[in-house]
Amino acid sequence: MTSQLSSILGKLNNPAEEAYKVLRANLSFYGLIKAIKTIAITSYSPGEGKTTTSLNLSISMAKSGMKVLYVDADLRKPMLMKALGKDDFEGLSNYLSGHADLAEIIHSTDINGFYYIPCGVKPFDPTALLNNDKFDTFLKEAQEDFDMIIIDTPPLGSVIDCSIIAAKTDGVLLVIRPKKVKAKNALMIKEQLDKSNAKILGVVLNGVNQREYKEYYNSYDYYGTKRKYAKGWLKSLAGNERS
Ligand SMILES: Nc1ncnc2c1ncn2[C@@H]1O[C@H](COP(=O)(O)OP(=O)(O)OP(=O)(O)O)[C@@H](O)[C@H]1O
Ligand SMILES: [Mg+2]
Repeated sequence: MTSQLSSILGKLNNPAEEAYKVLRANLSFYGLIKAIKTIAITSYSPGEGKTTTSLNLSISMAKSGMKVLYVDADLRKPMLMKALGKDDFEGLSNYLSGHADLAEIIHSTDINGFYYIPCGVKPFDPTALLNNDKFDTFLKEAQEDFDMIIIDTPPLGSVIDCSIIAAKTDGVLLVIRPKKVKAKNALMIKEQLDKSNAKILGVVLNGVNQREYKEYYNSYDYYGTKRKYAKGWLKSLAGNERS
């Protein structure tokens, strides 16, 4: 399994890898990495890049020397296991329902410092399972052994699972595909996260092409390269416009 995982992640090109380093560095620059140990990653709609961002940010952090745990908390859609051609792994849902210990659901990989927890068997009521005190115990236990826990969640425009998770974590990153989502929907999920007392750490604009990325890198004007799309976002997410 670990080699399969490596081959999926090995598809990253250099600019993409560099972009995840920039994301990690930005979090670090704001002094967040030291203070923050649990980050939930979400978006408004499916397919905006939550899993891609979560996995690659986790690996980028592991490569910088941290011990990182990636958690697939999208209990309705076992994407990681599907990608790996497996569907029989015990995971988060098994732990939360009291059918597995933490040690049983943590998988190591051949990437130093990078570990993951699959979502596990699809539960009858995922929201109730996440709302349970057992999720708090999970975060507490995991933090004893890991420097950073990155939690991949379902889209917030579809189900409220991420609000529940985000309220229990130190912060949330919003992944946005600028052409795909309307600013009013970004505002809607921001308000939803605010209501649940989640701390929005920043926004990852996904799907920015290589030329635009280079412009950003040369000018340090990330949003300038996508100003047409990003303007509405920045207005909507005023105060949270870090990338
Ligand atoms: N920046 C990108 N460039 C090219 N392809 C991308 C990029 N980001 C994501 N993808 C691809 O888009 C698809 C959806 O991405 P991903 O699975 O990360 O989204 P998601 O938000 O986790 O989706 P879901 O809500 O269904 O879980 C995947 O096939 C992924 O490889
Ligand atoms: Mg996903």
